[in-house]
Amino acid sequence: MCGCGEPRWAWGRCAPSPMLLLSLLLSAAPFGLLGEETRQVSLEVIPGWLGSPQNLLHIRAVGTNSTLHYVWSSLGPPAVLLVATNTPHSSLVVNWSCLLSPEPDEGLMVLPKDSIQFSSALVFTRLFEFDSTNVSDVAAKFPGKPYPPYPLAEFSWNNITDSLDPATLSATFRGHPMHDPTNAFANGSLAFRVQAFSGSGRPIQPPRLLHTADTCQLEVALCGASPRGNRSLFGLEVATLSQGPDCPSVQEQLSIDDEYTPAVFQLDQLLWDALPSGFMQWRPVAFSQKQRGRESALPCQVSPLHPTLEYPLPQSPIVRAFFGSQTNFCAFNLTFGASTGPGYWDHYYFSWSMLLGVGSPPVDTLSALVLGIMAVALGAPGLMLLGGGLILLLRHKRYSEYQPIN
Ligand SMILES: *[C@@H]1O[C@H](CO)[C@@H](O)[C@H](O)[C@H]1NC(C)=O
Ligand SMILES: *[C@@H]1O[C@H](CO)[C@@H](O)[C@H](O)[C@H]1NC(C)=O
Ligand SMILES: *[C@@H]1O[C@H](CO)[C@@H](O)[C@H](O)[C@H]1NC(C)=O
Ligand SMILES: *[C@@H]1O[C@H](CO)[C@@H](O)[C@H](O)[C@H]1NC(C)=O
Ligand SMILES: *[C@@H]1O[C@H](CO)[C@@H](O)[C@H](O)[C@H]1NC(C)=O
Ligand SMILES: *[C@@H]1O[C@H](CO)[C@@H](O)[C@H](O)[C@H]1NC(C)=O
Ligand SMILES: *[C@@H]1O[C@H](CO)[C@@H](O)[C@H](O)[C@H]1NC(C)=O
Repeated sequence: MCGCGEPRWAWGRCAPSPMLLLSLLLSAAPFGLLGEETRQVSLEVIPGWLGSPQNLLHIRAVGTNSTLHYVWSSLGPPAVLLVATNTPHSSLVVNWSCLLSPEPDEGLMVLPKDSIQFSSALVFTRLFEFDSTNVSDVAAKFPGKPYPPYPLAEFSWNNITDSLDPATLSATFRGHPMHDPTNAFANGSLAFRVQAFSGSGRPIQPPRLLHTADTCQLEVALCGASPRGNRSLFGLEVATLSQGPDCPSVQEQLSIDDEYTPAVFQLDQLLWDALPSGFMQWRPVAFSQKQRGRESALPCQVSPLHPTLEYPLPQSPIVRAFFGSQTNFCAFNLTFGASTGPGYWDHYYFSWSMLLGVGSPPVDTLSALVLGIMAVALGAPGLMLLGGGLILLLRHKRYSEYQPIN
C-alpha cells in the first residue's frame, strides 16, 4: 500500500513532528559510521542458442566471500532472478535447449547449489491502462475503468547487447507489442533500464534512492505510446514468489529526509521473509517528464499482494528453470498518477524506479545539510526544551517510583 491516498506530499500536512525529527536525529548517527562495501561487478549477455533472439543478461557482483547473481531476461514476460551465494566462485549455468523447451526445469542454475543463501524472482506480467476521466476523488483507490491490458509476454524486445554500457553497469530492455492493431506503440516503447553498482551512492536524478553494491536498480519508462483516452493512467502488474503460504507484504516507512526526493516522505519496501532476506524498495513517486522534479511528480499506488492461484499468469521460463514448477506466486499492481495534476497525457511519458537487493535495505541517514539545518533550528531553545523535558521526565519518574506504596 503506497498509501498515496494519504500522500506525504507537502510539509503542511504530513510533515514529521519535531519529536520524530529529534528521535531520528538521536538514532541516525550510528548508521553514518557504517563502512562501504564494494563488489566487483560484471555484466554479461549470455549468447543465445542457434541465433535465437533471446535476451539473457547476467549481472555478477563478487564480494570477498559472497556473490550476487541478477539474471534479467525478456524471454516470456520480463523477469529477474536474484540469487545470493556465500562464495566468491559461484557461477551461472545455462542450458539453452532446456531453457527454451516446454519444461525448462533446471535449464538455468547457479552452482554450487549448496552455496545459495537466498533466491527470489520478480516477473513483470502486464501493463495496464485506465481511463481516469470520471475519477473525481484523488484519494480513490480505484484508478478508473481499465482498458484491455498489454501482456508483456507478447512484446518484442530490442537486442540487449546494443544497450549494454560497462561504464555505467547498465543495459536497457526496450520493447513494444508484437501485435499492435491500433499502432499505439508506433512511436512508443516501454523500457526497463537495469543498473548495477560496485559501491554505495545515489543517482543524480530523483528519486535518488540510496544504493549499495548489493543492489540493482530498475527504471521503468513508458515513452511516446499513444494513450487510449484523454486521461489515461498506467499501471504495472508484478508477480513474485511467496516463500511460505502467505504473500510477502509491502511496508511503508516514513522518512524525514526530503533533500533527495522533495516532498516525498515515504519509502515503500517489499521484504521476502527468509533470512538473510532480499527486498524491493521504492519511493511512491513516478515522473511525467524526463526532467524529474516536483512539478512532474506523480503519486504511485501499490495494491496488496494476492496469491495468483485464481488466475493464470504467463510463465517466465527463467523463473521456472531456476525454481521448478512447484512454486506459488503472489501478484500486486502498481499504478502511476492520479486523475488530476500532471499525468502521462502531458508529455506521453512516465518513469518509475526501484531497487532490488539482498540483505537489509539501505537506510536513509540524515544528510549533513539536514543535520545542519536541524542543529540551527533546534539550537539553544531546543536544548533548553530537551533539558527541561529531561528534568520533568526524571522528576516524574522519581515521583512514580513512590506511587506503588498505596
Ligand atoms: C545482438 O547484437 C550483437 C552485437 O551487435 C550481435 O553479435 C548478436 O548476434 C545480436 N543478437 C541477435 C539475437 O540478433
Ligand atoms: C565475510 O568476510 C568478512 C571479512 O571480509 C568477515 O567479517 C565475515 O565474517 C565473512 N562472512 C562469512 C559468512 O564468512
Ligand atoms: C541440456 O538439456 C538437454 C535436455 O533439454 C539435455 O539433453 C542435455 O544433455 C543438456 N546439456 C547439458 C550440457 O547438460
Ligand atoms: C463519465 O460520466 C458521464 C456522466 O456521468 C458519462 O456520461 C460518461 O459516459 C462517463 N465517461 C466514461 C468514460 O465513463
Ligand atoms: C509517429 O510520429 C510521426 C512523426 O512524428 C507522426 O507523423 C505519426 O502520426 C506518429 N504516429 C502515431 C501513431 O502517433
Ligand atoms: C478527449 O478530449 C476531446 C476534447 O477535449 C474530446 O473531443 C474527446 O471526445 C475526448 N476523448 C475521449 C476518448 O474522451
Ligand atoms: C491489477 O489490476 C487489474 C486491472 O484493474 C486487475 O484485473 C487485477 O486483478 C489486479 N491485480 C492485482 C494483483 O491486484
